[in-house]
Amino acid sequence: MPIPARVKMVEVGPRDGLQNEAKTVPVEVKVALIDRLSMAGLPVVEAGSFVSPKWVPQMADTDRVMAGIQRRPGVSYPVLVPNLKGLEGALAAGVEEIAVFGAASESFSQRNINCSIAESLERFGAVTKAALARGLRVRGYVSCVLGCPYEGAIEPEAVAVVAQRLFADGCYEISLGDTIGIGTPGRAQAMIRAVAQAVPLDRLAVHFHDTYGQALANILASLECGIAVVDSAVAGLGGCPYAKGASGNVASEDVLFMLDGMGVATGVDLSRLAQAGRYISDFLGRTPMSKVSNALAARTQ
Ligand code: HMG
Ligand code: MG
Repeated sequence: MPIPARVKMVEVGPRDGLQNEAKTVPVEVKVALIDRLSMAGLPVVEAGSFVSPKWVPQMADTDRVMAGIQRRPGVSYPVLVPNLKGLEGALAAGVEEIAVFGAASESFSQRNINCSIAESLERFGAVTKAALARGLRVRGYVSCVLGCPYEGAIEPEAVAVVAQRLFADGCYEISLGDTIGIGTPGRAQAMIRAVAQAVPLDRLAVHFHDTYGQALANILASLECGIAVVDSAVAGLGGCPYAKGASGNVASEDVLFMLDGMGVATGVDLSRLAQAGRYISDFLGRTPMSKVSNALAARTQ
């Protein structure tokens, strides 16, 4: 299949990236990061989570983050919502898009959201129904699509079952998460082909963590299958607090450099994106986990 002419980049750094940081990131820094990302031309910037603050304290200020950001027309700022309580918080904050997040692995579902896959799908079904009734858009995630930190390899059919249910319940897009970054291109393609039997291909997104350095190769393999929505985190921030060893998401700068080089349109400006990545990396006191960002910086020195 030809590579799509246009790809939607979904920036997850402010949520997936910062949820795992040991250092507390103040509201104003999160707001400044999100505003820099939207100014870079990203069409979707995931802004936080309305989850239990006992489980993920780093996201406890998402209501204040939502109040502080400049909502640019045409840009979506989804937040993660695990249950009806989270939906209440999201609605009170004036959120227009939420994301529910299931898993293809029982053990990961238990560790991440404290319930079985079946229970989670019931819960997400109720959340999605209530959110749609209030005019919100709902995105769905499936975690552990290529492997689980507790169970090892995951069958593509298990991913397809969860993806199909989330889609049938009203999620407009299903993001397939390689939570521990263990996938390789052939397996990624087999998984996507299996899921595409259950959910239309143009409703699928990919979400690769880069733990084993395979993310860009997996994204290219996904594009070859016709996938046109790619999640990434600026400066390669990230990890999941309930997936031991999961490192950052693939760096947005690296994805964009690849797409630009292939002539794929995104509407995102690399220089502004890299500046946003340096802004948050400076705050965190580290070098961006993006080869492209570091190469660009070296060129201007
Ligand atoms: P639980 O303990 O079973 O929930 O957790 P509960 O209903 O029994 O409530 C326990 C306490 O939490 C109560 O407070 C609730 O009020 C409170 P208490 O009475 O003890 O004071 N609570 C909440 N507070 C605020 N907002 C809420 C909320 N819900 C309950 N929404 C629960 C179940 C799902 C809440 C919990 O497990 C949780 O919050 N998990 C979230 C974990 C998480 O955010 N993980 C990271 C995101 S997933 C990810 O990163 C993967 C992804 O990137 C894709 C990929 O890479 O694969 C998306
Ligand atoms: Mg993730």
